Amino acid sequence: MKESIKSIFNPLKIGRYIAKNRIFMAPMSRYRAIEGGINPEMTIEYYRQRATAGVIMAESTQINKGSGGINCPGIYNENQAASWKKVTEAVHKEGGLIFLQLWHSGRAAHKSILPEGCEVVAPSSIASTEKVMTYEGMQTPTLPRELTLKEIKQLRQDYAEANQFALQADFDGVEIHSAGGFLIDTFLQEETNHRTDEYGGSLENRFRFLGEILDDAVSIWGSDRVGVKLSPVSAYNDMGKGDVLTTFKYVIDQLNKYQLAFLEVNESMPFSNLSESQKATIEELQSLYQGVYIANGNYTAESGAKRIENGKATAISYGRFYIANPDLVARFKQNAPLNELNVDLFYGGDHTGYTDYPFLEETITTISK
Ligand SMILES: Cc1cc2nc3c(=O)[nH]c(=O)nc-3n(C[C@H](O)[C@H](O)[C@H](O)COP(=O)(O)O)c2cc1C
Repeated sequence: MKESIKSIFNPLKIGRYIAKNRIFMAPMSRYRAIEGGINPEMTIEYYRQRATAGVIMAESTQINKGSGGINCPGIYNENQAASWKKVTEAVHKEGGLIFLQLWHSGRAAHKSILPEGCEVVAPSSIASTEKVMTYEGMQTPTLPRELTLKEIKQLRQDYAEANQFALQADFDGVEIHSAGGFLIDTFLQEETNHRTDEYGGSLENRFRFLGEILDDAVSIWGSDRVGVKLSPVSAYNDMGKGDVLTTFKYVIDQLNKYQLAFLEVNESMPFSNLSESQKATIEELQSLYQGVYIANGNYTAESGAKRIENGKATAISYGRFYIANPDLVARFKQNAPLNELNVDLFYGGDHTGYTDYPFLEETITTISK
């Protein structure tokens, strides 16, 4: 192993668990679920292959039937929980840890992909211009309808039930997806939240929805099995246009009180560079967070290890590297070349580009094909 990257291999106490290394897998949608938001058998193998990660953050998963996303798995009924349970069992058998990311798309959705009776909803009726995947290709999202207070209460309830199903599926915990311009993120940021009731306006009000979801999650799991993902400076889904520093300083202050298992921060999006002020925002937010801070976005083994050594991250989550390299940990350790990533096979389809990325020779024997 290269001396310069040894810090990413150090075990880490994360909530009530010990992660065997700091090379975590970031949550990534692969849109291969079958009818009813059920995982196909190949999903068991996909996550099992990646169980050497310190922690796997499983992909964004629908908290109710109106959460959006094409062929996205769900966690709001018994059948979905049972299909996830096979995944968690496989990962645990390999000695891995796996958290589930709980998700609702909010305004980043198109009505054509929602089931009968569901609408595209958000804190305010403000459209996003970032195209979303539909059965007819990429399309501009539907103008969302503003949520009523009654619906917000129902959504809170749906998140709580999703937590219960995730517990039933034997996950080690959950990550509340509060990033990427999806539902919770649009409550947090002022540009997408023009509400005048107790869920909009002040920082306290904009945080309320996430706070309530966290209160329920923590009462179900204990705070040491709940994490949050944020993306304060991301422009994805038309976000990051307001005073994100003020907003997320407040959010981090609140999160510190929860003493969560971790905070994962998408610091930079793939294929984008940050401005100096965005970098300064991330540095300041990171310095304010008091718990396990998982840095994410464009990290390599070297840059990740450096950030950990400098005390600016506790662990790193890797996204795209884990798609193409199920044995990323072994490859980093041996300074082995990484497999080439096939971007065309990210979403949908069969096992190609999913479970067929090759392992390094010495680990391949542990995988039954
Ligand atoms: C195919 C793909 C699917 C993704 N799906 C999700 C997701 O479901 N939830 C999420 O929070 N982020 C998602 N992301 C973002 C990743 O978690 C991560 O933040 C991003 O890829 C940056 O990390 P990287 O540079 O190591 O790839 C996705 C990224 C990719 C490439």
